[in-house]
Amino acid sequence: MCGIIGYIGKANAVDIILSGLKKLEYRGYDSAGIAVIVDRKVHIRRSVGKLCNLYLNFRERPISANIGIGHTRWATHGKPSEENAHPHTDYTKSIVIVHNGIIENYAKLRDELQNNGHEFKSETDTEVVAHLIKEHYKNNLLYAVQKTLIKIEGSYAFGIICKEEPDKIICARQDAPLIIGVGKDENFIASDVAALLPHTRDMIFLENGDIAEVTVDKIIVKDVKNNMRSVKIKSVECDAVQSEKSGYKHFMLKEIFEQPSTIENTLNGRIYPNEGRVFIEEVKIKEEYIKKDISNICVVACGTAYYAGLVSKILFEEFAKIPTEVDIASEFRYREPILNEKTLVIVISQSGETADTLAALRLAKNKGCQTLAICNVIESSISRESVHVIYTCCGPEIGVASTKTFTGQLTALYILALDWAFKRGKLTKESLKIYLKELEGIPLKIRLFLEDVKPIKIVAKMLAHKKIFLYLGRYLNYPIALEGALKLKEISYIHAEGYAAGEMKHGPIALIDASVPVVVVAVAGRVYKKIISNIEEARARGGVIIAVASDSNEEIKNKSDYVIYVPKTSEFISPIMTIIPLQLLAYYISVFLGCDVDQPRNLAKSVTVE
Ligand code: G6P
Repeated sequence: MCGIIGYIGKANAVDIILSGLKKLEYRGYDSAGIAVIVDRKVHIRRSVGKLCNLYLNFRERPISANIGIGHTRWATHGKPSEENAHPHTDYTKSIVIVHNGIIENYAKLRDELQNNGHEFKSETDTEVVAHLIKEHYKNNLLYAVQKTLIKIEGSYAFGIICKEEPDKIICARQDAPLIIGVGKDENFIASDVAALLPHTRDMIFLENGDIAEVTVDKIIVKDVKNNMRSVKIKSVECDAVQSEKSGYKHFMLKEIFEQPSTIENTLNGRIYPNEGRVFIEEVKIKEEYIKKDISNICVVACGTAYYAGLVSKILFEEFAKIPTEVDIASEFRYREPILNEKTLVIVISQSGETADTLAALRLAKNKGCQTLAICNVIESSISRESVHVIYTCCGPEIGVASTKTFTGQLTALYILALDWAFKRGKLTKESLKIYLKELEGIPLKIRLFLEDVKPIKIVAKMLAHKKIFLYLGRYLNYPIALEGALKLKEISYIHAEGYAAGEMKHGPIALIDASVPVVVVAVAGRVYKKIISNIEEARARGGVIIAVASDSNEEIKNKSDYVIYVPKTSEFISPIMTIIPLQLLAYYISVFLGCDVDQPRNLAKSVTVE
């Protein structure tokens, strides 16, 4: 994880780096630091905690420089402390480095360096790299970095500056994102596009093995053996305004309320309900493959995206009749999944940078599988490496807990499953039209629901002090129970577990007493009666029942302590609706508890280490 940024040009590097770090803070926020070179002297400032501490540091003691690098950290090696915060230097303070990734052989390298007399100041893996570069340094920073990279194993995006060569930044990438922003008489490096957008739209997306020398007016990209690498400058379209809070108290709240539009955006131009047609321009998978050749689907993802995958299993199997399994990327990559060219591997990732999901994608490609990514971030590693991509058109998601991208992922998966069901002859045109109309209508229903969120605030206030929550759902809403529980855990630190409601009596029911809220997704549909029985079982043990039910269901009032009504939908589409109150419940509980909603402790938005 971690975010890195660098600047070289005529403006004050500190201002540019600080505002860039703000955009990168979602990648980690336990400490931050900046290094600049002024008159061949290196100045490093680092502070523990949120970025505001570093801002304060520079406000109290301003400094102006034309070259610098910065870092916002999510600790992997060594606790969050000033010593462990980046940038790191060698012992002579000549080489300065920021790093995103993990150096796997750092312990061995560190022992060797210590035997050669190097003294270390931090517990990080990164510091080793600064010392190694120093070992190889003979008045040529690029050369010293190339020599160093041959020795290190692991993943990295580096930004490196050197007191003796204050006219350049060297950067390198291996399995961690790194982008060069191309300016006029100035250039930038950063972990993601958002940090560069205020300055330029022209970007170079470095590939694994690239090492770049970036000066004010030149960018040279080579490999470790000093061969030139070809690069393309791409012009990136993106709306920087979407990265602002626009009057909402938190990004998460804004992103929850954006969902009617983000679902519309994801549907836009892809579904034609009146004609009974789906058209996903970017996906060029041959119809023949979908009709005949495909044997099974493997959906692989992490976190919230994994729960979207669980919903899709039901869709692909029930509608398209394609056997589908869903796996957590960190498990998938280390077992021996049975894969071949008839398997379609779908990876789902908001960021497109999650290390385990990326590794799963590569594994699938090596096995000759057809690959499709559902991704939110354009030009991310996963979207570039997957053969086919469907973008969830949600815009930047800043809140660490995913909301709008979850419903975006669901939307994309619904379209795919319906399209393939039709193509495979498992769904008639008439049925396809009905389902597509349902999908088209969901943003309006969510909009209506969001007009009055008072009932959720009331429940949140009443229950915010509880220590354990259970979330129950069945069938399509079982993954929604899991995702609802995850939201609460992530942002309020309350222990919450999601269960398939029918599984409750095999263990979790033992947890229930009068102190335990049980949130049950109980919308109309084929499992409604079953879930009512599960509510009765929980009530009989004294549990506090919070039901998410379809509008005008009177029966449920007598069976629950609180009811949150959602507009009626068909059961098929209900997960896109039922998750919204659960997102809001987690949000308001977190607010009542005074937690840091957008940047919960220990988490990061983009998990680029395994
Ligand atoms: C982190 C985030 C989650 C996200 C997961 C997968 O844990 O905090 O919100 O669901 O990573 O991320 P991805 O970008 O691959 O969807």
